[in-house]
Amino acid sequence: MKLMLIGGGGREHALAWKMAQSPLCERLWAAPGNPGMTACAECVDISADDTEGLIRFAGEQGVDMVVIGPEDPLAAGLGDAVREAGMLCFGPTAAGARIEADKAYAKEIMRAAAVPTAETRIFTDLETAKAYVLSREHGVAVKAAGLARGKGVVICPEPYQAVRPLERMMSEGVFGEAGKKVLLEELLTGQEATVLALTDGKSIYPMEPLQDHKPIGDGDTGPNTGGMGAYSPVPVVDRQTMDRVEREVLVPVVDAMRRDFGRYEGVLYCGLMFTAAGPKVLEFNCRFGDPECQPLMMRLKSDLVEAMAAVAEHRLGDVTLEWDRRASVCVVLASGGYPDEYRKGLEITGVDEADAMDDVQVFHAGTAERGGKLVTAGGRVLGVTALGDDIAAARERAYAAVEKIHFEGCVYRTDIGAKALGD
Ligand code: AMP
Ligand code: GLY
Repeated sequence: MKLMLIGGGGREHALAWKMAQSPLCERLWAAPGNPGMTACAECVDISADDTEGLIRFAGEQGVDMVVIGPEDPLAAGLGDAVREAGMLCFGPTAAGARIEADKAYAKEIMRAAAVPTAETRIFTDLETAKAYVLSREHGVAVKAAGLARGKGVVICPEPYQAVRPLERMMSEGVFGEAGKKVLLEELLTGQEATVLALTDGKSIYPMEPLQDHKPIGDGDTGPNTGGMGAYSPVPVVDRQTMDRVEREVLVPVVDAMRRDFGRYEGVLYCGLMFTAAGPKVLEFNCRFGDPECQPLMMRLKSDLVEAMAAVAEHRLGDVTLEWDRRASVCVVLASGGYPDEYRKGLEITGVDEADAMDDVQVFHAGTAERGGKLVTAGGRVLGVTALGDDIAAARERAYAAVEKIHFEGCVYRTDIGAKALGD
């Protein structure tokens, strides 16, 4: 098959790395891709938001299937355009992407399907939102309703702490239109985990559970980021728990979306809190998680392209995936200052030495090539990912690889995977 992958982050590097290993993969283009992906894909300089340019290029090359990595092009309707052009598409339509792009819509679907989630109130008026939160006894999670690159949630253990984030989102416009509508949610407590499921809109295939690390600092301190590391498997999510997630979350939500607009196809990301009362949904995303995708792809033994084509052709029921029994840990290296202001263009060394280690893959996220040198080009720069017999071994190997890599102001968490070890 001729394949085209949209996006250029760490998630897409991991997908390209895995797709290129498929015997079905005849050619693989990545738009726009990144310097790390040139080893497994032909990178073409078309931006992920240039729908017309992408469709034209894919048509000219006779692409059979387009795989869409990030949420922005999905929400903008690239999945619809690909299907209209007669190509197979891995990724939902714009109607499906609303499950992520509009958190108020996600709550409506969850209510309609009786999916367990935090109690929520939705506001479009700042003064009403402030009055509501100040009348509460308990804290809240303040959430921008639209897309905010994983940074649109502020946890406020005390009600008064919600006032500033509400002002920033609703009147100062820090997230633009995405923050004009805000959700105020009760705070849930428990262990958090991510479950990603493939679905063709009818069949559902839950993949191995993962745990992300959203705050910038060790011990889950500091502001939330897109994700500073992830690991798999997650000891708290056993077989029985996975069955419950499938029964109480995945099946009802996929059915409710089918009733609402038709098939939801691609990958459904469920951010879950395992509370004393059972699993509750924190958020849905319409794509693979980043960085969750990196350790997940390291553990996937089956043919990813075959599974993606089965989704796009509505025959996911035929597919069984095999997983490496070993554990995988991904440590994200970020540029100093992230998730706020950070510098770009800093030279990166040691990537090849780290990559040469057994069972280690360094996935590029925010990198660029300048004058033959690899330099930083984003907040999250690299995802150093390793396999090991257990989480402790995978962690040790990932951090040994991290030590080989250098750039000015490099920051990373030193406790990725520690929760699984009870540290
Ligand atoms: P989200 O982007 O919705 O997953 O939120 C980012 C992070 O905020 C999550 O990974 C949780 O750690 C936290 N969070 C979100 N909603 C809640 C909630 N209702 N209660 C407690 N923590 C939450
Ligand atoms: N790692 C969180 C996300 O991809 O949304």
